[in-house]
Amino acid sequence: MSQGLTRDEVAEGYRLFLRREPESEDAINGAIEKYADVGAYWRGLLSSDEFQRGWSRSGEANQYIMETMSKAFWALPATIEHEVSADRMDQLVARISEQWTALGEVEPHYSVLTHEDFRAEKMDEENIRRFRETGRTAASIIETFEKRSGHDPHSGVCLELGCGVGRITRFLAERFDQIIAVDISAGNLRLCTEYMQEEGVTNVTTVHISGLAELEALPEIDFFYSIIVLQHNSPPIQKAILRTLLSKIRPGGGVLFQIPTDIPGYHFSADVYLNSAEPEMEMHALPKPVVLQLLSEAGLVLSDIAPDGFIGEFGSNTFYAVKPSA
Ligand SMILES: C[S@@+](CC[C@H](N)C(=O)[O-])C[C@H]1O[C@@H](n2cnc3c(N)ncnc32)[C@H](O)[C@@H]1O
Repeated sequence: MSQGLTRDEVAEGYRLFLRREPESEDAINGAIEKYADVGAYWRGLLSSDEFQRGWSRSGEANQYIMETMSKAFWALPATIEHEVSADRMDQLVARISEQWTALGEVEPHYSVLTHEDFRAEKMDEENIRRFRETGRTAASIIETFEKRSGHDPHSGVCLELGCGVGRITRFLAERFDQIIAVDISAGNLRLCTEYMQEEGVTNVTTVHISGLAELEALPEIDFFYSIIVLQHNSPPIQKAILRTLLSKIRPGGGVLFQIPTDIPGYHFSADVYLNSAEPEMEMHALPKPVVLQLLSEAGLVLSDIAPDGFIGEFGSNTFYAVKPSA
């Protein structure tokens, strides 16, 4: 039976495929009448003249993507150091903690979504509304993966790593019983707590961490969710975080997280990194085989993996895995 098409889905389709807003109410209503569901609508957009004209204009971009893909997949394994001593790890974590503490105080929203409209001085009521609304789609990714793999909806306790100002947390709170919202930036977490209070959301517990030991102390969970967070941590931290948090998933639970794995030309040496100047925000990758190994060590079964557009360049993937029921 058709599930119908909503106004939000129509608008989202315009943004996704045509990179613009719907031109009129008639256009929205026309799409709702014409298409039975999102799948039919997307197929319609893909075959529309407007989409196809844009696509052929971006032939160069296609070429770039194909070349980058083959570079990433067929290159020799990159040298990415992902195991370091405890002292080294402390230094790596301290660097990230300082960066995000500062960003959370100065540019909380812009550091979450780097769009000029979300600079601190531009966050008026309308921009806050627009910013917050983006969290709905990010949270709904879980449903997309569940449906695609035929898994029942996850519930129980969800741990969100790097909740930031609560953009996605707000919507995760609608689908899980409890949320443990963790962040390394006290400023961002403060805004997250205020946002939850403002919205009357009572099932979110915010937890500030400054190091990895605090992650180990967290309780067992039913779901782990993290988007655009791991990418800002160097590979040894990414690996340690995943190892710790994946081990906390209860039988029947699952994980959905995004992490760059195949950025062409990316390499990492802790020595070189710690002696180099710090960019405002860092971008790092952990090799895909390492991520797969971590999932397997934690008893999680990879259900789906999808290339995503979160880093604005090639090489990021979203992983969805489940832990078989006991
Ligand atoms: C780009 S923002 C994304 C926030 C949120 N995930 C969203 O999409 O709205 C990254 C957030 O992750 C936090 N973060 C970065 N590294 C972290 C770490 N190792 N542990 C916990 N939080 C971290 C930052 O403080 C920041 O709030």
